Amino acid sequence: MEKDEINRSYEKLLHGNKKWAAEKLQKDPNYFKGLSLGQNPEYLWIGCSDSRVPANEITGTKSGEIFVHRNIANVVVHTDMNLLSVLYYAVEVLHVKHVIVCGHYGCGGVILAMSNKDNGFANNWLRNIKEVYQKNSKELDAIKDIQARENRLVELNVVEQVHNLAKTKIVQQAWQRRELQLHGWVYGFDDGLIKDMEVMVDEISDLEPIFRYDL
Ligand code: CO
Repeated sequence: MEKDEINRSYEKLLHGNKKWAAEKLQKDPNYFKGLSLGQNPEYLWIGCSDSRVPANEITGTKSGEIFVHRNIANVVVHTDMNLLSVLYYAVEVLHVKHVIVCGHYGCGGVILAMSNKDNGFANNWLRNIKEVYQKNSKELDAIKDIQARENRLVELNVVEQVHNLAKTKIVQQAWQRRELQLHGWVYGFDDGLIKDMEVMVDEISDLEPIFRYDL
Protein backbone atom coordinates (compact mmCIF):
# COMPACT_ATOMS: atom_id res chain seq x y z
CA MET A 1 0.00 0.00 0.00
CA GLU A 2 1.33 3.44 -0.97
CA LYS A 3 1.87 5.75 1.93
CA ASP A 4 -0.59 8.34 0.64
CA GLU A 5 -3.29 5.66 0.47
CA ILE A 6 -3.24 5.16 4.21
CA ASN A 7 -6.35 6.53 5.85
CA ARG A 8 -5.25 9.13 8.35
CA SER A 9 -8.63 10.00 9.80
CA TYR A 10 -7.34 8.92 13.20
CA GLU A 11 -5.11 12.00 13.26
CA LYS A 12 -8.22 14.09 13.80
CA LEU A 13 -8.55 12.46 17.22
CA LEU A 14 -4.96 13.23 18.21
CA HIS A 15 -5.28 16.83 17.07
CA GLY A 16 -8.58 17.08 18.90
CA ASN A 17 -6.93 15.78 22.04
CA LYS A 18 -4.13 18.39 21.87
CA LYS A 19 -6.66 21.18 21.47
CA TRP A 20 -8.85 19.86 24.29
CA ALA A 21 -5.93 19.43 26.71
CA ALA A 22 -4.72 22.96 25.98
CA GLU A 23 -8.20 24.40 26.58
CA LYS A 24 -8.56 22.55 29.87
CA LEU A 25 -5.18 23.80 31.08
CA GLN A 26 -6.01 27.32 30.03
CA LYS A 27 -9.17 27.28 32.17
CA ASP A 28 -7.56 25.46 35.09
CA PRO A 29 -3.80 24.85 35.25
CA ASN A 30 -4.39 22.13 37.87
CA TYR A 31 -7.10 20.27 35.93
CA PHE A 32 -5.09 17.13 35.13
CA LYS A 33 -3.26 17.24 38.45
CA GLY A 34 -6.65 17.09 40.15
CA LEU A 35 -7.76 14.10 38.07
CA SER A 36 -4.50 12.28 38.76
CA LEU A 37 -5.25 12.25 42.48
CA GLY A 38 -7.99 9.65 42.03
CA GLN A 39 -11.64 9.11 41.23
CA ASN A 40 -14.70 9.15 43.45
CA PRO A 41 -17.68 8.65 41.12
CA GLU A 42 -21.19 8.30 42.55
CA TYR A 43 -22.60 6.55 39.51
CA LEU A 44 -22.00 3.41 37.51
CA TRP A 45 -23.37 3.70 33.98
CA ILE A 46 -24.16 0.57 31.99
CA GLY A 47 -24.96 1.80 28.51
CA CYS A 48 -24.98 0.85 24.85
CA SER A 49 -21.74 0.94 22.82
CA ASP A 50 -23.61 3.08 20.26
CA SER A 51 -21.42 6.08 19.34
CA ARG A 52 -24.38 8.42 19.75
CA VAL A 53 -24.88 7.75 23.46
CA PRO A 54 -21.82 9.07 25.35
CA ALA A 55 -22.57 8.94 29.08
CA ASN A 56 -20.86 12.16 30.19
CA GLU A 57 -21.99 14.27 27.25
CA ILE A 58 -25.71 13.50 27.45
CA THR A 59 -25.80 13.90 31.23
CA GLY A 60 -23.76 17.10 31.35
CA THR A 61 -21.22 15.53 33.69
CA LYS A 62 -17.46 15.86 33.87
CA SER A 63 -14.49 13.47 33.91
CA GLY A 64 -14.46 11.65 37.23
CA GLU A 65 -18.21 11.68 37.81
CA ILE A 66 -19.37 8.47 36.12
CA PHE A 67 -17.80 5.00 36.06
CA VAL A 68 -18.75 3.53 32.70
CA HIS A 69 -19.37 0.12 31.15
CA ARG A 70 -20.80 -0.16 27.66
CA ASN A 71 -21.74 -3.10 25.46
CA ILE A 72 -24.10 -3.80 22.57
CA ALA A 73 -27.65 -3.03 23.75
CA ASN A 74 -26.68 -2.48 27.43
CA VAL A 75 -27.14 -6.06 28.53
CA VAL A 76 -26.37 -7.43 32.03
CA VAL A 77 -25.32 -11.06 31.51
CA HIS A 78 -24.54 -13.07 34.63
CA THR A 79 -21.58 -14.86 32.99
CA ASP A 80 -20.00 -11.68 31.60
CA MET A 81 -16.73 -11.39 33.54
CA ASN A 82 -16.12 -7.93 32.14
CA LEU A 83 -19.40 -6.48 33.37
CA LEU A 84 -19.24 -8.34 36.69
CA SER A 85 -15.72 -7.04 37.33
CA VAL A 86 -16.81 -3.48 36.58
CA LEU A 87 -19.89 -3.86 38.79
CA TYR A 88 -17.87 -5.39 41.62
CA TYR A 89 -15.25 -2.66 41.49
CA ALA A 90 -17.83 0.11 41.28
CA VAL A 91 -19.87 -1.21 44.22
CA GLU A 92 -17.20 -2.65 46.51
CA VAL A 93 -14.27 -0.33 45.92
CA LEU A 94 -15.66 2.94 44.59
CA HIS A 95 -18.87 2.65 46.65
CA VAL A 96 -21.09 4.14 43.97
CA LYS A 97 -24.56 5.10 45.16
CA HIS A 98 -26.40 4.52 41.89
CA VAL A 99 -26.18 1.95 39.11
CA ILE A 100 -27.88 3.09 35.93
CA VAL A 101 -28.76 0.93 32.95
CA CYS A 102 -29.33 3.34 30.07
CA GLY A 103 -30.72 2.08 26.78
CA HIS A 104 -31.76 4.18 23.82
CA TYR A 105 -34.55 4.21 21.27
CA GLY A 106 -33.43 3.14 17.80
CA CYS A 107 -30.90 0.71 19.32
CA GLY A 108 -29.40 -1.36 16.49
CA GLY A 109 -28.79 -4.32 18.78
CA VAL A 110 -32.41 -4.45 19.90
CA ILE A 111 -33.72 -4.01 16.34
CA LEU A 112 -31.49 -6.85 15.05
CA ALA A 113 -32.53 -9.08 17.96
CA MET A 114 -36.16 -8.51 16.97
CA SER A 115 -35.47 -9.78 13.44
CA ASN A 116 -34.56 -13.25 12.21
CA LYS A 117 -31.31 -12.03 10.66
CA ASP A 118 -28.16 -14.07 11.14
CA ASN A 119 -25.69 -11.70 12.79
CA GLY A 120 -22.78 -14.10 12.94
CA PHE A 121 -20.93 -14.12 16.22
CA ALA A 122 -23.22 -11.40 17.59
CA ASN A 123 -26.11 -13.92 17.56
CA ASN A 124 -24.82 -15.16 20.89
CA TRP A 125 -25.04 -11.74 22.46
CA LEU A 126 -28.35 -10.70 20.90
CA ARG A 127 -29.87 -13.95 22.10
CA ASN A 128 -30.23 -12.29 25.51
CA ILE A 129 -32.58 -9.73 24.01
CA LYS A 130 -34.56 -12.37 22.15
CA GLU A 131 -35.25 -13.89 25.57
CA VAL A 132 -36.61 -10.53 26.74
CA TYR A 133 -38.86 -10.47 23.68
CA GLN A 134 -40.14 -13.97 24.35
CA LYS A 135 -40.83 -13.12 28.00
CA ASN A 136 -42.97 -10.19 26.87
CA SER A 137 -44.22 -11.56 23.55
CA LYS A 138 -47.90 -11.12 24.37
CA GLU A 139 -47.50 -7.38 24.90
CA LEU A 140 -45.04 -6.92 22.03
CA ASP A 141 -46.90 -8.96 19.42
CA ALA A 142 -49.97 -6.84 20.08
CA ILE A 143 -48.12 -3.69 18.97
CA LYS A 144 -48.71 -3.48 15.22
CA ASP A 145 -46.47 -0.50 14.43
CA ILE A 146 -42.99 -1.97 14.05
CA GLN A 147 -41.14 1.10 15.36
CA ALA A 148 -43.41 1.34 18.38
CA ARG A 149 -42.72 -2.35 19.01
CA GLU A 150 -38.96 -1.77 18.78
CA ASN A 151 -39.25 1.16 21.18
CA ARG A 152 -41.16 -0.94 23.68
CA LEU A 153 -38.59 -3.73 23.48
CA VAL A 154 -35.87 -1.14 24.17
CA GLU A 155 -37.78 -0.18 27.34
CA LEU A 156 -38.50 -3.75 28.41
CA ASN A 157 -34.86 -4.67 27.82
CA VAL A 158 -33.73 -1.93 30.21
CA VAL A 159 -36.21 -3.10 32.86
CA GLU A 160 -35.01 -6.70 32.47
CA GLN A 161 -31.35 -5.70 32.78
CA VAL A 162 -32.05 -3.80 36.01
CA HIS A 163 -33.58 -7.00 37.37
CA ASN A 164 -30.51 -8.90 36.20
CA LEU A 165 -28.37 -6.51 38.25
CA ALA A 166 -30.49 -7.23 41.31
CA LYS A 167 -29.98 -10.96 40.79
CA THR A 168 -26.22 -10.63 41.35
CA LYS A 169 -24.68 -11.32 44.74
CA ILE A 170 -22.76 -8.07 44.33
CA VAL A 171 -25.93 -5.97 44.46
CA GLN A 172 -27.68 -8.11 47.08
CA GLN A 173 -24.64 -7.91 49.36
CA ALA A 174 -24.49 -4.14 48.96
CA TRP A 175 -28.19 -3.90 49.85
CA GLN A 176 -27.51 -5.69 53.12
CA ARG A 177 -25.02 -3.08 54.21
CA ARG A 178 -26.20 0.15 52.68
CA GLU A 179 -28.37 1.83 50.14
CA LEU A 180 -27.66 1.17 46.49
CA GLN A 181 -30.17 2.43 43.99
CA LEU A 182 -30.74 0.80 40.62
CA HIS A 183 -32.16 2.79 37.73
CA GLY A 184 -33.46 1.96 34.26
CA TRP A 185 -33.37 4.79 31.74
CA VAL A 186 -33.99 5.21 28.02
CA TYR A 187 -32.43 7.99 25.97
CA GLY A 188 -34.13 9.33 22.84
CA PHE A 189 -32.69 11.02 19.76
CA ASP A 190 -35.92 12.87 18.99
CA ASP A 191 -35.51 15.33 21.86
CA GLY A 192 -32.21 14.30 23.52
CA LEU A 193 -34.02 13.54 26.76
CA ILE A 194 -33.75 10.55 29.09
CA LYS A 195 -36.91 8.76 30.23
CA ASP A 196 -36.83 7.17 33.68
CA MET A 197 -38.54 3.77 33.47
CA GLU A 198 -39.04 3.95 37.25
CA VAL A 199 -38.01 0.36 37.82
CA MET A 200 -38.80 -0.38 41.45
CA VAL A 201 -36.14 -2.88 42.45
CA ASP A 202 -34.70 -1.51 45.67
CA GLU A 203 -34.40 -4.49 47.97
CA ILE A 204 -34.09 -8.24 47.89
CA SER A 205 -37.81 -8.75 48.51
CA ASP A 206 -38.51 -7.12 45.14
CA LEU A 207 -37.02 -10.22 43.50
CA GLU A 208 -38.70 -13.55 42.92
CA PRO A 209 -37.70 -15.85 45.83
CA ILE A 210 -35.59 -18.18 43.68
CA PHE A 211 -33.13 -15.34 42.96
CA ARG A 212 -32.58 -14.28 46.60
CA TYR A 213 -29.29 -15.40 48.17
CA ASP A 214 -28.88 -16.26 51.84
CA LEU A 215 -26.22 -13.76 52.74
CO1 CO B 1 -27.79 0.58 21.07
